[in-house]
Amino acid sequence: MSKEFKRYLVTSALPYANGPVHIGHLAGVYIPSDIYTRYQRLRGRDVIHVCGSDEHGVPITIKAKKEGITPQQVVDRYHEIIKNAFAGLGIEFDIYSRTSSDMHTVTASDFFRKLYDEDKFVEQTSEQYYDEEAKMFLADRYITGTCPKCGNERAYGDQCESCGSTLSPDELIDPHSTLSGSVPVKKATTHWYLPLNDYEQMLREWILEGHKEWKTNVYGQCKSWLDGGLQPRAVSRDLDWGIPVPVEGADGKVLYVWFDAPIGYISATKELTPDWEKYWKSEDTKLVHFIGKDNIVFHCIVFPSMLKAHGDYILPENVPSNEFLNLEGDKISTSRNWAVWAHEYLEDMPGKEDVLRYVLCANAPETKDNDFTWKDYQARNNNELVAVLGNFVNRALVLTQKYYGGVVPACGELTDYDKQTIEELSTIKSSLEHNIENYRFREALKDAMNFSRIGNKYLADSEPWKVVKTDTERVKTILYIALQITANIATAIEPFMPFSAAKILKMLAVEKFGWDSLGSMELIAAGHTIGTPSLLFEKIEDEVIQRQIDKLEATKAANAAAEVKAEPQKEECTFDDFQKIDIRVSTILAAEKVAKTKKLLKLTVDTGIDQRTIVSGIAEHFTPEELVGQQVLVLVNLQPRELKGILSQGMILMAEDATGALRLVQPSEAVKAGSMVG
Ligand code: MF3
Ligand code: ZN
Repeated sequence: MSKEFKRYLVTSALPYANGPVHIGHLAGVYIPSDIYTRYQRLRGRDVIHVCGSDEHGVPITIKAKKEGITPQQVVDRYHEIIKNAFAGLGIEFDIYSRTSSDMHTVTASDFFRKLYDEDKFVEQTSEQYYDEEAKMFLADRYITGTCPKCGNERAYGDQCESCGSTLSPDELIDPHSTLSGSVPVKKATTHWYLPLNDYEQMLREWILEGHKEWKTNVYGQCKSWLDGGLQPRAVSRDLDWGIPVPVEGADGKVLYVWFDAPIGYISATKELTPDWEKYWKSEDTKLVHFIGKDNIVFHCIVFPSMLKAHGDYILPENVPSNEFLNLEGDKISTSRNWAVWAHEYLEDMPGKEDVLRYVLCANAPETKDNDFTWKDYQARNNNELVAVLGNFVNRALVLTQKYYGGVVPACGELTDYDKQTIEELSTIKSSLEHNIENYRFREALKDAMNFSRIGNKYLADSEPWKVVKTDTERVKTILYIALQITANIATAIEPFMPFSAAKILKMLAVEKFGWDSLGSMELIAAGHTIGTPSLLFEKIEDEVIQRQIDKLEATKAANAAAEVKAEPQKEECTFDDFQKIDIRVSTILAAEKVAKTKKLLKLTVDTGIDQRTIVSGIAEHFTPEELVGQQVLVLVNLQPRELKGILSQGMILMAEDATGALRLVQPSEAVKAGSMVG
């Protein structure tokens, strides 16, 4: 049943340029697609991998507004960060483009125009929410209100983040515009719709009949969409950020981001090669879209309908899509900063690119949601990468240095055990190929690691360090084989851990091998001199992991503080009550800890009225040095009281947040001591 293809076109979902990429994106999309592409390339197949930043859409305009910059500035910033993070992690694209490029604008406009000219769209007028103050139609994200399902008062027009329900703006109770805060009105607007219902039959045959081999989550989602019946879907929006609808009289309208973004795969290919049509328009091409599970409907229903409407494009052969990765038991969230960001990881853990690639693949949420924890990361590094892979490679190389000065020994007669070991390697090779071809990357990684497990077992069973005392000829054969296994490992792990593969090749002083040579016992000739061995992986200590855990804890604390509502207002007081209070700007002249206490500081302050002593329970928050010289506000007519034998004459005003952190309340500029506050 499996057809032979002449070439491969691999796409990875275009990440939104409204934030950096995190481990969830990597595990779900980019590590699998990179493994797949590297593997095909090693096999010598004609393969290209295209991606780029998805730079349109409402979230980008919201971010720009929030930060007081233009949408273009937002996407410029994140495009660079994302692109560099991919490069840093060895995720290779033949092209990493962006949807704000000219090539894309032209490609997407032409695509729309062809469908428009051929009457593939239906035009419909409907009533949509309009903000009369901002003079704008409101995208779903620009409307908030109360969720009809759970009562959350901050639900969006498309979704409630509290209960996870998908909503339409009409369902929101008491809707408000997030732009102006005003109550939006309904106003008529015209848009172009792609009648997905016209493609239902085609999709049914193509997916439900033709692609039963797709992953169950993907197939299942497609089936439930198709069984629910497809509706026409708007492909334009009233918005000022995006590709203008290329039609007379469509001012203020742009292509819907989910219409233009997938066309980005085509524009990127065009930018890469003048020969782009052979990748997109030939039945000999195997098109594979790697995506996250929230993208399934767009890649399996909407985009294929667009391609069919256009008429000359191929459809994907497969759309591998993963479930979600959680972080330390919680859903990854960009807005809550609950993530391990790729660019931060690269900064915090230099030289450990492959460790992350390994852990994210070993733990990939292929069939169910999965959890990333730093403890698991550490354990996999120390127990698998260091103890299995690194250990084998190191032993093979170090023994070769020790016994033969780094010169590969000649291979003698093979024993049955040698032959059996070699046989095992070729069994793993087929399993590895089979798993990658079928998008089972976790299993494939286990296969790749099995080369070193077998290597370790081979050395442990044949004990060259003992045999060397009695049979030096035999040791030559053992090390010859161990070195061939090492060379095989460089090929087997390359798709998963390209940096380590390159390191092994360098230590062996050989060039990269093709996939077909995998399993061969003639990769490195007797007499070849290898390079200097160094450790492939290093043990990761607890402190390093603790620093990452602390970083997450800090995020958690900040989020908790942000969520806490302010204390309710106290009971009313009269103006006279207030007048009784005497607060003065004062300067701290001296500060020292009160002996035998943890919390108390003895402060000498200049209140402008006098110099006096105040005892304050802030020693855990401030050092005496940082307080001296500061201006503060002092309640000076508070009844004096004795603390630890010292008379305290007043109270320093502080602001305390929900985490218990204290801040001095200070005039914004220096003021003469004794100035009244009121
Ligand atoms: N930006 C989308 C996301 O991150 C993916 C777009 S994929 C494309 O969910 F096909 F539209 F490009
Ligand atoms: Zn809700």
